[in-house]
Amino acid sequence: MKTTFIVFRYDPAKDARPRYDEYEVEAEGTDKILDCLNKIRWEQDPTLTYRYSCAHGICGSDALVINGNIELACQKLVRDFKTAGHFIIEPLPLFTVIRDLVVDLEPFFKKYRHVQPFLINSQDPPETERLQNSENQAFIEPSLRCILCGSCTASCPVNRANENYAGPAALLRAFRYVFDSRDTATRERLRQLDTKDGAWGCRNMWWCTDVCPKEIPVTKCIAQIKRLIKENKKPEPS
Ligand code: SF4
Ligand code: FES
Repeated sequence: MKTTFIVFRYDPAKDARPRYDEYEVEAEGTDKILDCLNKIRWEQDPTLTYRYSCAHGICGSDALVINGNIELACQKLVRDFKTAGHFIIEPLPLFTVIRDLVVDLEPFFKKYRHVQPFLINSQDPPETERLQNSENQAFIEPSLRCILCGSCTASCPVNRANENYAGPAALLRAFRYVFDSRDTATRERLRQLDTKDGAWGCRNMWWCTDVCPKEIPVTKCIAQIKRLIKENKKPEPS
């Protein structure tokens, strides 16, 4: 079938302003949107710039706005859209465009690094691995599915209003370690998250949860952090 792709184009080094270029692509309903972008780049316009790597929903590098919604280009098929073969492709909002569909994700990863996204354990290492029971593993499991695609943070209205807000992806990674029974830095982590730019920045808008391609209940995970912060402030029973 013949499809039409209207694609955001902008090279800040050369262009005074962004524009949209139109391409006709011969596509099957089962083609991924990423396949169509590849056809444009390989057969029509090698200057079209976008990111991808795995093409299978694992690396998180091809989050884009497709017909107004944030999606992974490799997870959406042509037939998933009821737009009569018409597609408008734009870069992720919130972030600065480097070129065409590629945005600068450094601010996103800076916030991610700030939550110390690694296990901290001050105890001596055991003979074998540090063990975790299956209940604890199941509790944090949704957060392990995160592929750092940035969709949640790009969609979050709080992030648009407050650039200092950690954002859902960083808070989700914090959740992963705050609730990991093997991590011994829980109090320190909670202290860091107990701010208006941390967990309390979340206003339960749920946009992050709606947009997540891995169906992670991001908002619920952030709410669990808030609950634990409150619990830790309660005085010990005498
Ligand atoms: S929580 Fe979901 S939307 Fe956010 S970065 Fe992870 S995979 Fe992407
Ligand atoms: S290209 Fe890796 S998630 Fe889409």
